[in-house]
Amino acid sequence: MAEAVAVWAVIVAAGSGERLGAEHPKAFVAFGENPLIAASVLALDDHPGIDGIVLVVPAGWEERATFMADDIGAGKASIAVAGGASRSDSVALGVAEVPADAAVILVHDAARPIVPAALIDRVLAGFVDGADGVIPVLPIADTVKRVDAAGRVVETLDRSEIRSVQTPQAFQAEIFRRALAAPDRSTGTDCASLVERVGGTVTTVEGDPRSLKITTRSDLERALELVDAD
Ligand code: CTP
Ligand code: MG
Repeated sequence: MAEAVAVWAVIVAAGSGERLGAEHPKAFVAFGENPLIAASVLALDDHPGIDGIVLVVPAGWEERATFMADDIGAGKASIAVAGGASRSDSVALGVAEVPADAAVILVHDAARPIVPAALIDRVLAGFVDGADGVIPVLPIADTVKRVDAAGRVVETLDRSEIRSVQTPQAFQAEIFRRALAAPDRSTGTDCASLVERVGGTVTTVEGDPRSLKITTRSDLERALELVDAD
């Protein structure tokens, strides 16, 4: 982008983490010395391209979230709100807290604690040719097939055309707010799919294989190893 525009980040952390099965919601399980969410808060807070951060957490965890941000010195993360039933609902509740003058809104999953600065750089630099959204993607190693309800193969997809998708994802604020207003937003599994539904163009940049998503206990161990190897 040519001029400096206000860029806000929304970190969604309101899931329960059922598959992790911990005592606390997933974003608040220990990851090294801090809760898991702290890693992404620090990464986005440290990035010069980000002006402010909204935290979306399980109901009842709002105060703990702002204390945590204070504790780790993340001065840009001063707003915490309760999330909703689906990830998209949580995103919408967070975006509602973003100031009206923000031109770009970036959404990140707290479940991805490793957010290299270069990854944020690529996403924010990806708004070329009038793109409405930018998402980081990775090629996939496995062959991918479409199957029917009975498990029979319908077709083998062309792997060279398939990517797996990460966060942070960034969007022009205006179209993103419109996309989030859709009544069927809960059926979108990522933010970009909602922008695609309202006719927005979404472009891809290279993701980072280290930026894995924590789903199970073993993911947590792997992510800690990756941090230690840094
Ligand atoms: N999320 C959210 N609000 C929801 C559901 C998910 O803010 N209602 C967030 C999670 O906190 C997470 C991200 O969206 O940072 C991706 O979701 P996922 O990895 O599925 O986390 P959980 O839903 O917490 O885990 P699980 O599905 O195992 O319960
Ligand atoms: Mg989930």
